[in-house]
Amino acid sequence: MQQIIYTNNVQDALERLLASMRPASVHIVTDANVATVTRHLLPDIPRIIIPSGDTSKTLATAADVWQALVDSGATRRSLVINIGGGVVTDLGAFCAATFKRGIPFINVPTTLLGAVDAAVGGKAGVNFHSLKNEIGVFRQAEAVVISTCFFSTLPDRELLSGYAEMIKHGLLDSPQLFADTLAIHPSGLSDLLPLLRRSIEVKQAIVQTDPTEQGIRRALNLGHTAGHAFETHAMLAGRPVPHGYAVAWGLVVSLVLSRMLLGLGSDTLQLLSHRVRDLYGAPSISCDDYPGLLSLMSHDKKNDTPSHINFTLLESLGHPVTGHIVDHDSLCAALDIFRDLMGV
Ligand SMILES: NC(=O)c1ccc[n+]([C@@H]2O[C@H](COP(=O)([O-])OP(=O)(O)OC[C@H]3O[C@@H](n4cnc5c(N)ncnc54)[C@H](O)[C@@H]3O)[C@@H](O)[C@H]2O)c1
Ligand SMILES: [Zn+2]
Repeated sequence: MQQIIYTNNVQDALERLLASMRPASVHIVTDANVATVTRHLLPDIPRIIIPSGDTSKTLATAADVWQALVDSGATRRSLVINIGGGVVTDLGAFCAATFKRGIPFINVPTTLLGAVDAAVGGKAGVNFHSLKNEIGVFRQAEAVVISTCFFSTLPDRELLSGYAEMIKHGLLDSPQLFADTLAIHPSGLSDLLPLLRRSIEVKQAIVQTDPTEQGIRRALNLGHTAGHAFETHAMLAGRPVPHGYAVAWGLVVSLVLSRMLLGLGSDTLQLLSHRVRDLYGAPSISCDDYPGLLSLMSHDKKNDTPSHINFTLLESLGHPVTGHIVDHDSLCAALDIFRDLMGV
């Protein structure tokens, strides 16, 4: 099982890992923003700094990182430490997993989304042309160091974006974790580490039973079929929204469908939709946008054939059903209810 260390003393955790792993050399991959706020961490180890943002998650940037590793004499016994958000951990892990057929790496996520999702679970990769995460590998980090100490410099939008994935984990796990997750505000950081741990353990348990996404790992797509469609739709309209905002709306759509098709309790749907509306507002969509949204959902890469839209739904809290095929009429009806609940 992947080693995950929960700590508020990251320096100490990394020093202990280095002492036990004894790598031939250590190379930190980070981005320009994170390099500024994490200068104090392992200050003697040189940084390979990539530009910030998802547009850096490319083969060209990977080539720069590989070159920097070559230039600094990295060997098969070297270690890469990725310190940053999901862009850095995805790209840095991909570079390490492919350099000399794979050298060990440690992930230190500095965003909430990174901690609760991207840095854990062994998916590493880059975008290719306009395709998200098209080139990549499954490869587990030697260790992931989780701390809330990084989050004080994160904008609220970034915290909210990660919090949506925590809500998803609560829905997938149990009534208790769902309630406990909804009870906090993501800016209440001092209380977050224990809850963050429970949330990450949900993903870790699912990934452990299905590391390469042949079955139950698809449960982690809850909210993402509609969520990706909202995300792309907003981007095409020139009003991009953070991934987590789109996922939060997608979770509400999934629960509407779960209520319609699987008899999920209305209290769960009401609780979620109120919370999502309060924290994330609503997407600006009308019924004129349905054909575009449906077309985006049909082309979601999780579908085997475009005429079938594949959803992860919930029978009840903690009981996901993967691969549920939803027809277009049901989806339009669900979007009507969703707009009602969101007040649009
Ligand atoms: N591998 C997976 O399983 C998986 C899962 C979910 C998302 N992802 C990927 O993760 C990426 C998104 O991750 P993200 O939201 O962390 O984005 P990100 O890495 O771009 O970070 C968001 C922004 O915050 C900045 N930042 C990071 N940490 C900071 C800190 N502590 N203080 C101030 N600023 C900080 C970054 O420089 C960046 O500008 C996407 O590329 C997505 O595909 C991967
Ligand atoms: Zn997501």
